Amino acid sequence: MTVKEIFETMEYGPAPESAAEARAWLAGHDSRFGHFIDGSFTSPASGFDSRNPATGAHLAGLTQATQADVEAAVAAARKAQGKWAGLGGPGRARVLYAIARLLQKHARLFAVLETLDNGKPIRESRDIDIPLAQRHFYYHAGMAQLMEEALPDADPLGVCGQIIPWNFPLLMLAWKIAPALAMGNTVVLKPAEYTSLTALLFAEICQQAGVPSGVVNIVTGDGAVGEMLVAADVDKIAFTGSTTVGRRIREATAGSGKALTLELGGKSPYIVFDDADLDSAVEGLVDAIWFNQGQVCCAGSRLLVQESIAEAFHTRLTARMDTLRVGDPLDKCIDIGAVVDPVQHAAITRMVDANSAGTRHVAAIEMPAEGCFYPPTLITGLTPSDALMQEEIFGPVLVATTFRTPDEAVAIANNTRYGLAATVWTENVNLALDIAPKLTAGVVWVNATNLFDAAAPFGGVRESGFGREGGWEGLRAYTRPKRKTRALVRLDPPTGQGAPSDPVNRTAKMYVGGKQARPDSGYSQPIFGKSGTPLGHVGLGSRKDVRNAVEAAQAAAGWAGTTAHLRAQILYYIAENLSARADEFAHRINAMTSGRQGAKEVDASIQRLFSAAAWADKFDGQTQSVPIRGVALAMKEPVGVIAALCADEAPLLGLVSVMAPAIAMGNRVVLAASEPYPLAATDFYQVLDTSDVPGGVVNILTGRHADLAPTMAGHLNVDAVWSFSSSDLSAEIERASAGNLKRTWVNNGRATDWFSAQTGRFLAQSTEVKTVWVPYGE
Ligand code: NAI
Repeated sequence: MTVKEIFETMEYGPAPESAAEARAWLAGHDSRFGHFIDGSFTSPASGFDSRNPATGAHLAGLTQATQADVEAAVAAARKAQGKWAGLGGPGRARVLYAIARLLQKHARLFAVLETLDNGKPIRESRDIDIPLAQRHFYYHAGMAQLMEEALPDADPLGVCGQIIPWNFPLLMLAWKIAPALAMGNTVVLKPAEYTSLTALLFAEICQQAGVPSGVVNIVTGDGAVGEMLVAADVDKIAFTGSTTVGRRIREATAGSGKALTLELGGKSPYIVFDDADLDSAVEGLVDAIWFNQGQVCCAGSRLLVQESIAEAFHTRLTARMDTLRVGDPLDKCIDIGAVVDPVQHAAITRMVDANSAGTRHVAAIEMPAEGCFYPPTLITGLTPSDALMQEEIFGPVLVATTFRTPDEAVAIANNTRYGLAATVWTENVNLALDIAPKLTAGVVWVNATNLFDAAAPFGGVRESGFGREGGWEGLRAYTRPKRKTRALVRLDPPTGQGAPSDPVNRTAKMYVGGKQARPDSGYSQPIFGKSGTPLGHVGLGSRKDVRNAVEAAQAAAGWAGTTAHLRAQILYYIAENLSARADEFAHRINAMTSGRQGAKEVDASIQRLFSAAAWADKFDGQTQSVPIRGVALAMKEPVGVIAALCADEAPLLGLVSVMAPAIAMGNRVVLAASEPYPLAATDFYQVLDTSDVPGGVVNILTGRHADLAPTMAGHLNVDAVWSFSSSDLSAEIERASAGNLKRTWVNNGRATDWFSAQTGRFLAQSTEVKTVWVPYGE
């Protein structure tokens, strides 16, 4: 081919990256690896092979960890943790900084090894995966430096078990290890079985960086090893991977007291409005769905195009698809590399072939004759209910539908069980910023896609999991509040005999949708004071009552859209009305508990209402300093419908402490009153009634916590369940919550000191951060 011809066709010549250094590194280990435990490598033992998916060639033999290996790794991490935490933030910062520097120094080796192992284009591993991994360590070196100053009330969790997937092997390792180490934790990490090599190279970096023995441990193996790690003596599990496994881990850790963050799958919408810069939007799609062969949890895999431009857009898109280059991942001219493994290739093929809906366009390009390659594919004309519009394909396959109005775009976008990310393309900034908060997603990109940074929290809602990685929120997931707790004591309802002396024997109703409601069961139970004095009756709430309350809470969704100022005003009003009836409440509490704390409890409740009101318009999000020309807005959003079993021992303060911050942040609540002392709660709804609280925002049920909890935890329209009940229902709640992966906050058998409880913790649990990326410029 002449130079003239090359200029005319603009055909790329191959530009392969050398794999010599990576191969030499493998050869230096005889291409066989053990685990990295307590600062050194164990001898290689039986296990499995790691292969290059682009060629099928054998890369290395890896060891399948045994129970004893996992235990040894956890024991090493446990032994090292106190000393590592004791090093102090600045001491740890130096080590993290050294890791970042070494990652930078060996960047090309990491990039090539990653590409060999995973099949991703070298351009991506070189320009995205490895630089972002470095950035994560630099950023968290800073967090370690600042910990004592910025987070004076935070302690490390202890030993963290971390399980990562194969799509961004080193980057996911960095996302997990950097914040954990920064906060003084030690880790046992299990890489995915297809892609363990960069984790093992990272282990060597740890040795060179002076990471003390036992602080980082890496065990290799498949899901069975993951299960062992989940069951091991660890204080936290951080998992990224499929929703199916995430759900299993939720069930396995239920009631164990282990902290848990789950970053799971997605089916993220990519919305193109008719005024968008169409060429940029097409180019964005290359990054959204063909980046990393579409094996990206937040891939823009569901294209939603405004009807009026759909045809024109699809034409441009298919034309662009036909110029994509698929082939040798080590070639710097390649856009799309190999799918990670034949198993994943088969899964993609199976899903796509099972679909008969819509029109399939397969890029008209030359495909490699061998290796694990899948062609870029677009399927248009689908409807939201089609399987491929709902199921994560995790491959280079884009599915598409159209919409007419912005409202319809939002409705289709949110028609998914997932909620990880979303992309919006429009030249109208007002429209973009109107749509972004309406999308059910943890991350929204405006006129850009797949932007990530250590400073910008990343994570999902709904079945995309919970917890954030990156930013200040990411750190919270690796710390616990500094405080001593005591064991929870089960409080049984006082017993007695007879009827209340009050001639008008009123049965306190429940409070649902702003109205008093009789229990659906038709049963009520007598309530006695500590000395056996009959005080009244309350309804015995059942499944049906929980469902009615959740329905009422759902219907009050408009509360989330009210201004924080209004919510503050209403909370102040509740405080005012409670204050007016303080004596009556104090008397009631004393009668139920036979105590003398009534007045103190009422006063503390008023304080808590004031505190939540004060925070309502001050518990703000942040603008994150991300390294682009633009901003990442970390916006705090309400979690949704929170169902809570309120404290038994503090019948008014326990309820108010939960309710006030939750509604201050725009949530609606379904509250189960103190089981032994419910009458303060049933009196309290009269206060709510006179305080302009819209119906359905606060719902109060009475009855046995053990009866109410399963329905609360299993209900698909409940977004979070909290339990402060003295019947320790933590395990049941967390297990039942796995269905829709709702957020849980349970006491795990530990008591709360309600008088000193901080509103801040409740505010944090009442919100979830959404990161909205808005680049500047044309
Ligand atoms: P996976 O969820 O099975 O694997 C992720 C990690 O979890 C791996 O390290 C694996 O060894 C481990 N694991 C598997 N079973 C486990 C268990 N019972 N307990 C503890 N750890 C366990 O993902 P897989 O099978 O590799 O991919 C299947 C599908 O999952 C993909 O097609 C994709 O849809 C989704 N996926 C999503 C990812 C994300 O980033 N959200 C990443 C990888 C896969």
